[in-house]
Amino acid sequence: MKFVLKCTKCGKEYPPDFTWPRCTSCGGILEVSYDYNTLDLPSDYRMQFVKQWKYRPFMPITRKRPVTAGEGGTRLKKVSSSPDIYLKIELDNPTKSFKDRGSTVEITRALELGFSRVVVASTGNMALSVSAYSEIAGIEAITFVGSGANRNKIDMIKNKGGKIVEVEGDFNDALVEAEKFAKKSGAFLVGDYLYRKEGQKGVIFEVIDQLSYNVPDYIFVPVGNGTLISATFKGVYEYKLAGLIDRYPKIIAVQARGADPIYRYFRTGVLRKVSVKTKADAIAVGLPTYADQAIEAVKGTGGDVITVGEKEIFSAVKRIYKDAQVCAELGGAAAYAGLLTYDLPRDATAVALVTGGNI
Ligand code: F0G
Repeated sequence: MKFVLKCTKCGKEYPPDFTWPRCTSCGGILEVSYDYNTLDLPSDYRMQFVKQWKYRPFMPITRKRPVTAGEGGTRLKKVSSSPDIYLKIELDNPTKSFKDRGSTVEITRALELGFSRVVVASTGNMALSVSAYSEIAGIEAITFVGSGANRNKIDMIKNKGGKIVEVEGDFNDALVEAEKFAKKSGAFLVGDYLYRKEGQKGVIFEVIDQLSYNVPDYIFVPVGNGTLISATFKGVYEYKLAGLIDRYPKIIAVQARGADPIYRYFRTGVLRKVSVKTKADAIAVGLPTYADQAIEAVKGTGGDVITVGEKEIFSAVKRIYKDAQVCAELGGAAAYAGLLTYDLPRDATAVALVTGGNI
């Protein structure tokens, strides 16, 4: 599809080859804004096997060969009936998280735009994924992490050839430093920005395809920086526009009780940074980049924002192991923890995204 870049705050437009992910006038994050009249789906679209690159018509990529490691095509496993509950097992992806769907798009875009170096701020999974895809593309990846970041994940990033810069403070402090570094060095800034958001639509596209275009009533999404939930909403918006579905699932945002800025924002209307305290390190984000878009996803679908405690998350890890025989990490199990505490009607269909398994 043809596209331009558009500021989510002031609406200012930029050409597709503009390489900074924020608006130069107001600092808002940019979004890929398509000309949906140019959407061209193949006639056998519904019959094609699910895989991330099935969704190329909905991606801002022109390169024939994307930088890929075979991401997507993850299992949608039914774990109970009435209500019908499904788990989307995103740890089937190459680096064991949904992040690979964003990285394949971002790193392909980095090559399209002529970059040989990328920089990312991360709580771990995203940087691991970016480092793996950068290694495949033959480009350099530099990761900024907060001082409390998960040590195992840091080791895994180093194993993928990624460079690490530890910043005194939390994820948000690392984010500020990564943006400064990118500006100064001219490296391509990747992470929770426009191109990753496009790639992450692949999760919801697959869920709907795997349910034969029957829209689930509820989709439970874990929220850290808010990109996944925002991509989920954009994905269902586009599927509805394309005539593939005729309604939205209720999007239920799930946060750890010790890292709940979106929950507070939803209840009070005020966005404030919270000081994070949770063992679910992947989603330990005190001030999410996609806060407004997360709220928009919930409100736009008649959804909800809920929180789960540490005990509930630990129990969900065990339940996922029992129900699906996979070992999710705490942040990856949070959505299912939320689903298990939610009062669902017996005739409902609900999906929980099991997003990662790097423990
Ligand atoms: N689940 C896992 C396993 C994650 O790693 C993340 C985010 C999320 C859920 C939440 O997604 O941020 O789009 O709301 N991890 C980021 C990272 C922050 O750096 O790996 P989100």
